Amino acid sequence: MALNEFLEQLQQLATEATAAFGQADSLDALEAIRVEYLGARQGRLKAAQKLMGQVESEDKPVAGKQFNATKQEIEAGFEEAHQRLSGSGGSRAADPTFDNTLPGEAVGGGHLHPITQTIEELKDIMGRLGFSVADGPEIEDAWHNFEALNIPAEHPARDPLDNFYLATAGAASASEGEAPLLLRSQTSNVQIRVMESTPPPIRIISLGRVYRPDTADATHYPMFHQMEGLLIDEQVTMADLKSVLRLFATSYLGDDVHIRFRPSFFPFTEPSVEADFSWNDKWIEFGGAGMVDPNVFKAVGYDPEVLSGFAFGLGVERLCMRRHGVTDIREFYKNDVRFLHQF
Ligand code: PHE
Repeated sequence: MALNEFLEQLQQLATEATAAFGQADSLDALEAIRVEYLGARQGRLKAAQKLMGQVESEDKPVAGKQFNATKQEIEAGFEEAHQRLSGSGGSRAADPTFDNTLPGEAVGGGHLHPITQTIEELKDIMGRLGFSVADGPEIEDAWHNFEALNIPAEHPARDPLDNFYLATAGAASASEGEAPLLLRSQTSNVQIRVMESTPPPIRIISLGRVYRPDTADATHYPMFHQMEGLLIDEQVTMADLKSVLRLFATSYLGDDVHIRFRPSFFPFTEPSVEADFSWNDKWIEFGGAGMVDPNVFKAVGYDPEVLSGFAFGLGVERLCMRRHGVTDIREFYKNDVRFLHQF
């Protein structure tokens, strides 16, 4: 048998098989076509393989190669048709025990974490008061987390037991004069970074994670979120601070919220206060605040004779907990969807 004739037959076979598989409209029909072409004994491909025996021996390599290619093409045609017919419910619908009228399983949609939702809302409220959002790093150096905030090296707030210093920049490198790095313990680091890079006036908030090695309990967690606020201009007073915090508190918690200041101390504010909001007839501490200390202005190259300003730092979890009646901060970080779904 001439090589050309054999190759033509193969070609013809592939074309017919592919067309037949393409037209199969049920798995039963497909099976019949499969047997016709690929059947191990009587199949047409098998017949073609027998024909190859009549090809001249010098033409056998070419004939064999083409035979294999044809076989693969036909098998691929079968696979494709099989997938098409057995996909998307085809076999299920044919299954007499399957009840088509059963309601489908609802796909639950996800949503933002309650703390993320809270952050978005706080940004929104403060945005309406004219505060724009600033961002800062969570891995911070001692200058921005402490030094420039008027917290000198010997200050107890810098104790390694109260901070997450990074091992790569521990005591050894610090003694060589290299600044140690730590997970920031407060968002006040952003105050410094903003003032270092921006001329006054300033009106920003910064929301983000802070880290302290506290044992987790109902009101403590080694990681939590703060909202830092900073307003710098000429002739800013504590009355401005109080107004802004009152507007904020009533916007977030409701009109019946009152605000009160208790004297306190922070190295970077003078005078300093704890800010309490009343809620359900109880006073609850939401964070610290005060007028920016002149030493902080000096550290960032601002003139304390000309400028004044206030800063505050509020606990985001605490706000969210009050608002939604959550009694244990750990709930936010267990990732139990039964809890998270409620928000
Ligand atoms: N950084 C302080 C804290 O974490 C809060 C604060 C911010 C106090 C700004 C005063 C001014 O406790």
